[in-house]
Amino acid sequence: MNAARRKLTPGPRMLGHMTDAGSRPADTLHTADRDTLDTAALRHPDSLKWTAFDPDVIPMWVADMDFGIAPPIMDALRARLDRSLGYPQLMGDPILQAQLSQSLARYGLSGLGAEHMTFLPGVVPGIYAAVHALSTPGEPVVTMTPVYHPFHLAITDQDRRVSGVPLRDGDSGYEINWSALDAASRGSRLLLLCHPHNPTGRVWNAQELGKLRDLVLARDLFVMSDELHADLRYGEAFESFAADPRVQSRTITLTGPCKAFNTAGLGIGVMVSHNAALLSRVRRAAGGLMGHESALSITMWQAALRDGGPWLADTVAYLRGNRDFLSDYLRQHLPWVKFHEAQATYLAWLDLRAHPRAADIQAFLLQEARVAVHDGPVFAHDSHKSQYQGFIRLNFATSRTLLTEALDRMAAALNRAM
Ligand SMILES: Cc1ncc(COP(=O)(O)O)c(C=O)c1O
Repeated sequence: MNAARRKLTPGPRMLGHMTDAGSRPADTLHTADRDTLDTAALRHPDSLKWTAFDPDVIPMWVADMDFGIAPPIMDALRARLDRSLGYPQLMGDPILQAQLSQSLARYGLSGLGAEHMTFLPGVVPGIYAAVHALSTPGEPVVTMTPVYHPFHLAITDQDRRVSGVPLRDGDSGYEINWSALDAASRGSRLLLLCHPHNPTGRVWNAQELGKLRDLVLARDLFVMSDELHADLRYGEAFESFAADPRVQSRTITLTGPCKAFNTAGLGIGVMVSHNAALLSRVRRAAGGLMGHESALSITMWQAALRDGGPWLADTVAYLRGNRDFLSDYLRQHLPWVKFHEAQATYLAWLDLRAHPRAADIQAFLLQEARVAVHDGPVFAHDSHKSQYQGFIRLNFATSRTLLTEALDRMAAALNRAM
């Protein structure tokens, strides 16, 4: 990040006055008004997203939304502060367990009781724990690339090998390369699945899930399915990988509230499995290294599940508008950019390889457009990185005004250098 800062050259200082609503009382940050952002408040020193780059840069990289959190969650958090902040229930909060049992059933994970759930301080620790427990050093672990980078970090940080299977750019979206996946699976014991998929925004459909399950059974694999983005879909049906009883005993599903409810700073996730023994094996692999979820995060997730529905529906509708706006904008102003619309997530995976500056596209956009995006190679490992040079991941969870400003800046810089 410091390197990113150092690379910056002085640029236009537009952001400060463009969308700042001035200094508003803290309460108004959490209103439902997604069109007016208080960029001064967002740029607080505690924000990773808003302070990693110079103040005139529009940050469209890390997966946080620029919106305030749901008012019922704020109320619940405030009320919670009137009580003790001692240890929460370390075997899992019973109210939250009951809520999750209902909520996960919507996606086909039914019959889950307290023994099938383990809370975590975040989803990423669960990815690491699954790799640790279900593979051994030196072994290949299969995943489909490009993919959310902690997937391959969880593998390489723990001395396993990434068996990366590139997705295919099909006519109507990114597709699984079945023969390559089958070949990669032969030597492995574990598949890390991202569903919905970050960064492509794919929701694996019933047919793909069926085929994946067949493959997993044929190759005798364990599966870690990260379903964190499931509530951020634009009309697509969603079924959990483990909705099919045939694969329940070999699957660990991870989820949490932080993407849908924009609460990453409060850190909580859950690891669920119909196979309580498998769950306990994964939990034990992390042992005391894992830490426990915080009391405030439990309150937050309870409130989100109890009262957050209307806020979430409004947010998804707004994000869908942004996604559609982005697509129209690209078709009109940057027709050479290749992309498939995200079916879920607020992330756009864009192929800018046709541009003369594709080889350093992220640095180019940072310097010339003053827009910070994630660089494509981040989403792959070692020798696979180069395939994604010229791609970017753009986070569109911001106000339409700021999204427009970012796209205008990008289009001007890119088309100038074309
Ligand atoms: C697929 C996926 N899993 C996990 C995470 C991070 O989860 P947490 O912050 O709870 O560790 C992200 C964050 O963007 C993500 O996209």
